Amino acid sequence: MNTPETLRVELGPRSYDIVVGSNILADAAGFIAPFVKPAGVVIITDAAVAALHLGTVAASLDRAGIVHRTVAVPSGETSKSMAQFEDILENILAAGIERSTLIVALGGGVVGDLAGFVAAVALRGLDFVQIPTTLLSQVDSSVGGKTGINSKSGKNLIGAFHQPRLVLADSAVLDTLPRRELLAGYAEVAKYGLIDDPDFFDWLEIHATQILDHDGPERREAIVRSCAAKARIVSQDERESGKRALLNLGHTFGHAFEAECGYGGRLLHGEAVAIGMVIAHDVCAAMGMAPAGDKDRIVRHLRAVGLPVMAKEISGMHWDIDRLIGHMAHDKKVQDGQLVFVMTRGIGKAFTSRAMDVEKMRAALMRSCHG
Ligand code: GLY
Repeated sequence: MNTPETLRVELGPRSYDIVVGSNILADAAGFIAPFVKPAGVVIITDAAVAALHLGTVAASLDRAGIVHRTVAVPSGETSKSMAQFEDILENILAAGIERSTLIVALGGGVVGDLAGFVAAVALRGLDFVQIPTTLLSQVDSSVGGKTGINSKSGKNLIGAFHQPRLVLADSAVLDTLPRRELLAGYAEVAKYGLIDDPDFFDWLEIHATQILDHDGPERREAIVRSCAAKARIVSQDERESGKRALLNLGHTFGHAFEAECGYGGRLLHGEAVAIGMVIAHDVCAAMGMAPAGDKDRIVRHLRAVGLPVMAKEISGMHWDIDRLIGHMAHDKKVQDGQLVFVMTRGIGKAFTSRAMDVEKMRAALMRSCHG
């Protein structure tokens, strides 16, 4: 086994480690043990992840003599609901959890967000550990303490900032992911290069195949560098009053496409982000602030790995630009009635601004949707 690498998210008393390694789930108990009290552990997972990885984690806890029970929710975005949230809370409260019970979130972004929010509010707050099992959750959603569920009014509108005590990212579990989900997570990896690390983007252009095709040093390095970028940004701006908004590069556009598609799998979050990042670069090029060649380079790379880069590639959708802009107006990034956009001066040069040229944005959306 390779030696796991440890990174620190520096947040004063809420600081924690991210451990990245191959096959570290088999020793989950060893990593989690410092946070376990006699009240034991509640693992929150979903049905698909339970079938693949729960046995490994449970066996490790058994060997270490750690008391544990499991709550498994159905797989998929619909589990990030008020009804599921209430069910879990009532279930674990009835089972007699204590203030010192440790919640372990074992799964992708849905499980991490849901379990983290349960941990944030049960008995006014329990410690929790993230064991993300998708590339997207390993490089993004498990780090930074955003937890929550969806509302009828939109995604992630109900939630809390609640930092985990530890994140365990096992690069080997990604071999069990469908290729499409792996690629969707890769869009968030590429995002870190596009935000402020052009060298990382150069490196990804060379190593994407190794990262995606098998567990190995390149995949681990991609996860480590992504988590380091996220940790750096979160450490500077835990509650998104400034710099953290850069992590939303491509997301305002992406969320609009996701909202139009519903959340049933026609368009994955990472795919929407890939399309949105291209639009962000396209509109900034049209506004004369970013080189058009950078947009072309991003399109080439994302297309080469197999991600969609234009909304018109999503089959069965007839996009209405006014409806898309309507969704954007409801984005969480609205401040004082105005949308804050992540703009760019080119690869690795993202910044936030309200100064969007709406006509050029409309034209960029048209290019993405209708070519
Ligand atoms: N995924 C964006 C953030 O954590 O801020």
